[in-house]
Amino acid sequence: MERRPATDVFHDWAVRGKDEGMERGHALSVAEMVDFISVKSEQRNSNFSAVDVGCGNGWVVRILADNPLCQQVVGIDGAKAMIDKAKSIDDDNQYICARLPDYSPTTKFDYIHSMEFLYYLDEPEQMLQLFHDNWLKEGGWAVIGIDHYMENEDSLSWPEHVGVNMATRTISQWETAWNKAGFNKVEHWVAGGEEGVTLVFVGQKS
Ligand SMILES: C[S@@+](CC[C@H](N)C(=O)[O-])C[C@H]1O[C@@H](n2cnc3c(N)ncnc32)[C@H](O)[C@@H]1O
Repeated sequence: MERRPATDVFHDWAVRGKDEGMERGHALSVAEMVDFISVKSEQRNSNFSAVDVGCGNGWVVRILADNPLCQQVVGIDGAKAMIDKAKSIDDDNQYICARLPDYSPTTKFDYIHSMEFLYYLDEPEQMLQLFHDNWLKEGGWAVIGIDHYMENEDSLSWPEHVGVNMATRTISQWETAWNKAGFNKVEHWVAGGEEGVTLVFVGQKS
């Protein structure tokens, strides 16, 4: 199948309403990721800011915004129809249509959340470095989930099936990239319940 930019494919998905299926499919794994952020912010007991990178229709932005300690949350995605949809549902939070890694935020965040985005980039390691250097405050955490990786054999046919390039890495290569980018307290687990395959990595800038 012909390969297209991921943002074009997901623009079409939003137009056809396929973003809602994605939301349902990612819900269990994202619940664990959002829970990680809730627990950390309760431990710190201070207000926080967050960004959801590759936010799709913004459903996780709205979950994060419901946390009483959350002061500001921004959603960023390069698919125009995803951001149009997010804005049509939610006037309270900020949504930005931007292509990564070219976009740089004007302020830094306490948390970066990102689900099923990073491997659509040609060089995800470079994005991890940018997250660490330019997007996170000191002490902030990145919480990133991916379903396409070498050990998840079912996912290896997705580039051909979806018609989009994906950066396929092993768990060990991801771990090296997180450490190389300068993150501390790097941990990973597989999220999403008994059948779950989401590889979640977390790491702190400190
Ligand atoms: C698999 S979807 C996940 C959406 C959302 N995180 C969710 O869980 O429902 C991947 C999202 O990443 C966005 N994306 C992919 N590559 C991008 C890039 N280079 N710049 C900005 N957004 C990108 C797509 O437009 C798409 O909305």
